Amino acid sequence: MQRPCRRGLLVSLAVAAAAVVAARLMGWGGFSAGLRLFLPEELARYRGGAGDPGLYLALLGRVYDVSSGRRHYEPGAHYSGFAGRDASRAFVTGDFSDAGLVDDVADLSSSEMLTLQTWLSFYEKNYVCVGRVVGRFYGEDGLPTTELTRVEAMMAKGAEAKKQAQEERRKFPPCNAEWSATKGSRLWCSQESGGVSRDWIGVPRKLYKPGSKEPRCVCVRTTGPPSDQPLDNPTHRNRGDLDDPSLGEYPGCPTLAVTCSFPLS
Ligand code: HEM
Repeated sequence: MQRPCRRGLLVSLAVAAAAVVAARLMGWGGFSAGLRLFLPEELARYRGGAGDPGLYLALLGRVYDVSSGRRHYEPGAHYSGFAGRDASRAFVTGDFSDAGLVDDVADLSSSEMLTLQTWLSFYEKNYVCVGRVVGRFYGEDGLPTTELTRVEAMMAKGAEAKKQAQEERRKFPPCNAEWSATKGSRLWCSQESGGVSRDWIGVPRKLYKPGSKEPRCVCVRTTGPPSDQPLDNPTHRNRGDLDDPSLGEYPGCPTLAVTCSFPLS
């Protein structure tokens, strides 16, 4: 069975408290039953070479035994740079140079942190967690550092932003668009436009968003209650999201037209 490296803070605290006691009883390395604390120089021995004690890598301070994926990580393999260290940053940047294979993620955005979370889920699912590295993300007592707490908060922020973006995409799916040097341009909606499969088609509108200079074309539902009202609201005007204040009509395009054509004049 795989040992989960990622647990809630309370569990981490309980494990860490036990670890402190265990470490006192067993000396360095007695983090908790089966989970070890590694110093970075100790982890560096686990690169899967001849005579190495194993093949491990770390991500956000969690150490995984990746020997079952040897073909990816062993010396000479494409991802050998990840072996024996915490190179969290490179999981986002793809910079596999010595300068890039580091654990400094301080300047990453919340959506980049989400990429790290996806990688963490990948390692949790596919490999066995064997311990934690003492350093940026875990202290000598095995407790999460303030940096790890900050990273986890950024991940939560990234997940929330992603959820909101997905909800907005369902509410306002992108239009289809085409342009030709002879005919001009055309914007139109369909039940699959923007890759959002739905049971309505909608009409093209400009969506203005704070922070972006140019509006973009989205398809807007024209019947039923607005998306932010319950379906059984008896007082709605049966105009779907047409009255959303962030929308604008395309000049020259009939209000309820599914297709807006802008021929070259
Ligand atoms: C940020 C950039 C990237 C990172 C951090 C990354 C990381 C990784 C890692 C860690 C693995 C091993 C996964 C395992 O343990 O099973 C892997 C496998 C793989 N990667 Fe990447 N990768 C990146 C970009 C790419 C790109 C651009 C391609 C293709 C154009 C690619 C193609 C592959 C393939 C095909 C495998 C599987 C190889 C196999 O199963 O033999 N990767 N990648």
